[in-house]
Order: sequence, then structure tokens, then C-alpha cells
Amino acid sequence: AIRPIQDLVLDNEVIAPDGFRRPAVVVNGSFPAPLLTAWKGDTVRFNVIDKLAQHLMNKTTTIHWHGIFQQHTNWADGAAMVSQCPIASGHSFLYDFSTGQQAGTFWYHSHLKQQYCDGLRGPLVVYDPEDPHRHLYDHDDENTVITLSDWYHTPANIDQRFPQQCSNREFNSTLINGRGRWIGDPTAELAVITVEYGHRYRFRLVSMSCDPDYVFQIDEHNLTVIEADGQNTEPLTVDAIDIFAGQRYSFVLDANKPVRPGVTGNYWIRANPGFGPNNFTGFINSAILRYVGASNEFPRTEWNQRPRMLNESDLHALEDPKAPGKPSQNPDAVNVTVNLNFTKVGDSYFVNGHSFVPPPLPVLLQILHHQTDPRKLLPYGSVIGLPRNASVQVTMPGGVDDIPHPLHLHGHAFSVVRSAESTSYNYDNPVRRDTVNTGFDGDNVTIRFETDNPGPWFLHCHIDSHLNAGFAIVFAEDTNTTQYEKPPQSWDELCPIYDRLPEKDH
Ligand code: C2O
Repeated sequence: AIRPIQDLVLDNEVIAPDGFRRPAVVVNGSFPAPLLTAWKGDTVRFNVIDKLAQHLMNKTTTIHWHGIFQQHTNWADGAAMVSQCPIASGHSFLYDFSTGQQAGTFWYHSHLKQQYCDGLRGPLVVYDPEDPHRHLYDHDDENTVITLSDWYHTPANIDQRFPQQCSNREFNSTLINGRGRWIGDPTAELAVITVEYGHRYRFRLVSMSCDPDYVFQIDEHNLTVIEADGQNTEPLTVDAIDIFAGQRYSFVLDANKPVRPGVTGNYWIRANPGFGPNNFTGFINSAILRYVGASNEFPRTEWNQRPRMLNESDLHALEDPKAPGKPSQNPDAVNVTVNLNFTKVGDSYFVNGHSFVPPPLPVLLQILHHQTDPRKLLPYGSVIGLPRNASVQVTMPGGVDDIPHPLHLHGHAFSVVRSAESTSYNYDNPVRRDTVNTGFDGDNVTIRFETDNPGPWFLHCHIDSHLNAGFAIVFAEDTNTTQYEKPPQSWDELCPIYDRLPEKDH
């Protein structure tokens, strides 16, 4: 169906999600940004109205619909200076796109500098009327969406090009569904999720992190994973999930703990960050799973020290699992191989020797203005041309700067034929997703995808300060036919007031 236009009003407000008051970016008055929902095949229309005016925070914006392929609508991808100019304060921009054949768990966030760390991030769920996993759960609604966010007490200082403060500063708290506690406020309210004994719930776990990964678990319950990043998987039961910035999972939780004398009926939900304040003293990094009929007390359950962790290479795509490239075992079967190399020099990140700097004109507009030679697209060296209908293999080494980096590709899902911490290749039934942990030194994560979607698409580290420090490239897919995709009424709408912007973002 074609859905009515939905306004998303961006504004600045002082909020205290962890007990500490600070100005933030809110959407329709709320942080996290409100849950947006659609059905598979819907055309959705989000009218973003920019009322941002807070001094020291960015006033311009764009919104990216993370994981949505934007087939034929590259212009609606929301990547600042790749697909459009920033929307200026006092102006609006209509994102109008179809969910196509996609269903699953997505999210949306500012794709301008580090603005999403200041609050512009929320979940987006696309329901499937013919979900193949439907028989596995009883409930799947707004109460079963779980978002994880790192939260900072100072704005991301987005006016600096290399805000090293962001990568070096520690977040002050972990928010689960927008609530948490920083160390200075042991009374701040925690999120409570209510379940009923005997029911099965499809939870949709969304990492809206700007930086850390989280080890997620729910005490005394196991998690049956059925979806990764908008792609159904064969069900896999684990105790804990290490989820990286930008990733999503659906898992089924069987509420199988009866409420009876001697048990509180309350269980900790934990999101333990990969670094930073990561013990549970004072119940930081926690929320509560509460059974109907239980008392309103804190859980007394214990952290599972030796959980069965989700291992990415054990996860298998449910539908058409074969990786692109035929015959599947033959590495030469791919048409294009891109070997990436990541480095950090000083405060900047480099991909194959180039640190991504936003170009003066969005890459899409350069192409629409007839620059179809990918080598001539700006920023020089950061754009890689890809032909249409090709199988592409990309290899990415782990461990730059000794930490794991999650890499996200726009416009596609990819098959993870080699996962982090694995030395073997799986071309037959690898998981398919859109954001992958590239692991540590010695790892060489390898992905494959098909070029079925003309337009310029970002591939970047989803640690937001790293993207801002150049950890990105753009794949310019089939530049010759990009102009035949459907732009908004006129190309110039992508940068309507570009020359008159009071605050330039490039
Ligand atoms: Cu969720 Cu390019 O980002």
C-alpha cells in the first residue's frame, strides 16, 4: 500500500534519559526517535522537518534508513554528500521509497557527521504478512523492540572534522529502550519489558550504538535467533549475542518461568559494552524483564559468565542461501574482487590509502550531471566503480588500531562467506546481512553481493567517529544507468538551497 505522509519533526530538547540533563536531538519530541513501522511492499513517505536550532550542535541533517535497499531510489538513501545535501534548518525533505521485497528489523538515523550520537536514532520495523517464522512466536509488536544506545553527556561536537573527543571519550551510560543509569545517578529509572508466562515473543534487538558493541543476554532465558539485519536465518538458540553498531537481530524468547513463591518473576536484561563502564554495579547497562503477576522489585538473577555466544559462522540464511558467484566454490567465479586495506594515521582512517572527505557536491549529483567515469568522481580515490549484474567479492582485514570495526554497506545485503574469527569459507549457506564485524588482526572478513541496484552506495565503519574521520568508500554502481533510476521531481531538489546554506557542511 501507499502509506500517508508521516511528518518527522526534528528539534532540540533538554532530556535526561540516564538521569543527567543535556540538550539533544529529538524526533517528534522523543528520544529514542519513535518506532516506525511498515509492511513488506509498502511505499512509505517520511517528511523530515528540520527545526534544529541548538547552538553548538549541528542544525542541518539527513536521515538514512539503515538496511533499506532503496531500489530505484538511491536519492532517498539519506547519506549526506553521497546522495544528497544536508537539509537546512527551517526546511523539509520528503523521503519517499518502497520497502520492496524486504521485511525485518531496521533503524533510521542521521547520516550527517556524528549527529545520531546526539539522539537522532530510532527503530524501523517492516512486517511480513507471510513470515516463514510466524509459527515460532505469539507476539511481535511495539513492546518487543529493544534498542541499545551509548549515551554521552556532551554533544558530539560535530563542527570539527576530526572530533577525536568522540572516539577517545567514553560514553557515560548504556540505554536500553532509551533508559539507563550513569554512575552519578543510582535512582534513574530502568526500562521494564513485560511478558506473560507461557507466551513466545519475537524480540527485535537493534544496536543504535555510535561506538561500542554489546554482549546482550537475558538472565535464565535463551534466545532463538531467526533474523539478522533484515534477513531471515535458520533458527539458532544461544544464550548471548555480541551485537555491533548498526546490527539487528530478531530472537524468540519463550517466557517459560512460572511466577511462584520464592521467585521474583524479574530477570535482568543486560547489554554489556565491549569497553567502558561494563560491570553491573548500580544496575548500569541493564533493564528488567518482568512477568505478568510479578512484584515491582529488582531482579536478583545472576550474570551468565559462560554463555553460549552467537557465532556468526553458525548462522545460516534461510532463503536462497547460496552466496553470489557460480560455481560457488570457485573464488574466480566472482566478476569483481575488491581487496580493501584499512589504516589509521594520526587521527584519520584510510581505506586503500584514501581518507574519505565529503565532496563539494553529492556523488549522486555528480553522476546525474554526467560524470559517469567513476575514477573522476569526487572524492578522488574514495569512489570505486562497479558494473551492473556482477558478483562482487570484498575482503576486509580486521584489527585496525587493535579494535573490531563493524562495516556497513548501503543499498544491499551481502553474504558473509568468511566471518571474523574464522579461517574457512562458506559459499553454500552463509548468513546474509548488511553490517559485519571485521574482527581483529589476522581476520579477513569476506563478503559477496550482486550489483542489482545502480547508484552510489557507502561502505563504511559504523563507529560514527571513525566514519567522520574518513573510514569510508563509495561504490558507484553502474554510473551509466543511474540517471534512469527515479530521482525526486528534479535533480536539484537534492540540493535545493545549496548555494545559500548559511552553515556549510562540507
Ligand atoms: Cu547506519 Cu551509513 O549507516
